[in-house]
Amino acid sequence: MLDAVPSRTATATAFTRAAHVHIDDAPPVFDDHVAYDLLPGYQRRFIKRLAALSPPWVRRYRQTRNAFTTMRAQIVVRARYAEDALAKARETGVDRFVVLAAGLDTFALRQALRPTDPPIEVVEIDHPATQRWKRKLLAERGIAEPSELTFLPVDFEEEALAHVWIDSTTPDFGSWLGTTYYLTREAITATLTTLAERTQPGSQLVLDYWREPPPTDLSAPLLWGTRVAVALQQEPMRSFFEPQDIEALAEAAGWRVRENCAATEQNRRYLAARNDQLSVPSFAHLLHLEH
Ligand SMILES: C[S@@+](CC[C@H](N)C(=O)[O-])C[C@H]1O[C@@H](n2cnc3c(N)ncnc32)[C@H](O)[C@@H]1O
Repeated sequence: MLDAVPSRTATATAFTRAAHVHIDDAPPVFDDHVAYDLLPGYQRRFIKRLAALSPPWVRRYRQTRNAFTTMRAQIVVRARYAEDALAKARETGVDRFVVLAAGLDTFALRQALRPTDPPIEVVEIDHPATQRWKRKLLAERGIAEPSELTFLPVDFEEEALAHVWIDSTTPDFGSWLGTTYYLTREAITATLTTLAERTQPGSQLVLDYWREPPPTDLSAPLLWGTRVAVALQQEPMRSFFEPQDIEALAEAAGWRVRENCAATEQNRRYLAARNDQLSVPSFAHLLHLEH
């Protein structure tokens, strides 16, 4: 699907994480203060203009729920959920973070700015075109690739992850965010199976998946609009799952479900105490797996 062009949705999600830090109420749900540095100039100018609005306009903006507010909630909550789970997993001996379909993920860059003791090894797996473009972008922006970061290019639709996978002797923690809906069921199954087979017992994986809402659901028009928008960017959506359907698929691939987290629970956990209008749409689910 992406062929030779880098993913545009990767820039869109980085834009969204950066916008959240600058325009939503403090504290951010997910503090990605590095994403802004990776954006094209016109997107940075847009965020700066929003952040510079006078207080009444900012208040009004924050009290308005629109498609961007809702998608922003989904994107920052899934990132927070994954990194919260990673932090807990590290206490149990996980010492490698595998970021599948990383796009412009900034964990490794943020870690390099705030060194932990000891830093965790990070492996970014992504479509070759997106990964090449990200590395070029980092070089152009004068951002050094952190020494703990390894890049593994893989097209999940065309190549077996098993061919490039680097085995570890300790459990891994993986995140696979913003991606399952762009892949075929076969590619998702193959990737989950390889990860279960090639990672150590105790490894964990967090992914998000979307459920196709009934046409009468309030979130249905948002999902349709998003599908059209991403298809126009050559990244059509291909897979949606019912909660029990993806659980069965993950279990058959060798995983145990730790949590299958619906939007209502995500909103309760991360957004209930906020004064802005961030709210995860009902079609967005998070799945936390372990084996
Ligand atoms: C919406 S971005 C998500 C990026 C990041 N995980 C996030 O949450 O911001 C989708 C990512 O999926 C990757 N992707 C899409 N199709 C892929 C494929 N067939 N093989 C490997 N990666 C793919 C894209 O390169 C892109 O980085």
